[in-house]
Amino acid sequence: MDFGLKGKTALVTGGGSGLGKAICEILAQEGTNVVVHYRSNEESVLRFVEHLNETYEGKSMAVKGDMSKESDLDNLFDTACKHYQKIDILVNNAGIWPKAYVKDMSVSEFENTMKINLQSPFILCKKMINHLIDQERKGKIINIVSQAAFHGSTSGHAHYAASKGGLVTFTVSLAREVAKHGINVNAVAPGIMETPMITANMSEEMIKKSYHERIPLQRISTPEEVAYTVAFLASNKTDYITGATIDVTGGMLMR
Ligand SMILES: NC(=O)c1ccc[n+]([C@@H]2O[C@H](COP(=O)([O-])OP(=O)(O)OC[C@H]3O[C@@H](n4cnc5c(N)ncnc54)[C@H](O)[C@@H]3O)[C@@H](O)[C@H]2O)c1
Repeated sequence: MDFGLKGKTALVTGGGSGLGKAICEILAQEGTNVVVHYRSNEESVLRFVEHLNETYEGKSMAVKGDMSKESDLDNLFDTACKHYQKIDILVNNAGIWPKAYVKDMSVSEFENTMKINLQSPFILCKKMINHLIDQERKGKIINIVSQAAFHGSTSGHAHYAASKGGLVTFTVSLAREVAKHGINVNAVAPGIMETPMITANMSEEMIKKSYHERIPLQRISTPEEVAYTVAFLASNKTDYITGATIDVTGGMLMR
């Protein structure tokens, strides 16, 4: 099946690791030019972009930036636009998962979580819709949320869950606002994936103990298993889906 992704340009935040990296690879496989946004591990990100350019038809580039700085978000979007003249797909994937129970949570940690997980997607969405409206083109926005947006946190991540819940509601509201311009805005809610966010914070034993019995499919997912759904939502086969959140949780979240 042709997903119509060839020749499109996608901006993926946090594209240097985990889910973001898998999304970049799958979109590049489909012939999409990918703007791989990253904050750290420059050498490995540049090698990854070289691999994309050597292996696939599209032309990808890396742009560095801190999602908590508005000037970096301006630079990211402007650099991508200048290079490709157009952006068709925005994936707000970068995020943090700090741990603190509410009784001990500092205001600054709460604020920072909101800034990175909710405010930076808002800023990039705003830039993206203005870019598409100015150019009178259709486009796709996909926001990465979490099962925690619906379940709430069970283990000291109330700020994270609240930021993702906010992003779900923002996605619905924006979808309503820009549908008339042919812009689709959707979200993807992973359950638990094997990425640095999880493996850096939990041992294999802890993951098994905490999650396997809550997941009907009895395992955590690979990032690729979630990335395929993101690529599907970026494709021309989902023009009639907007304001939706697709759960990719192995059944951990059923609603
Ligand atoms: N791993 C999971 O189980 C899981 C579950 C549900 C949702 N998610 C969501 O999936 C998305 C991807 O996470 P992941 O699991 O691939 O983890 P990850 O840690 O590999 O990726 C997060 C990315 O965000 C980037 N990032 C974080 N803070 C940043 C900042 N201030 N500026 C710029 N970039 C920043 C990191 O550099 C990294 O590339 C996140 O939004 C996360 O909340 C993950």
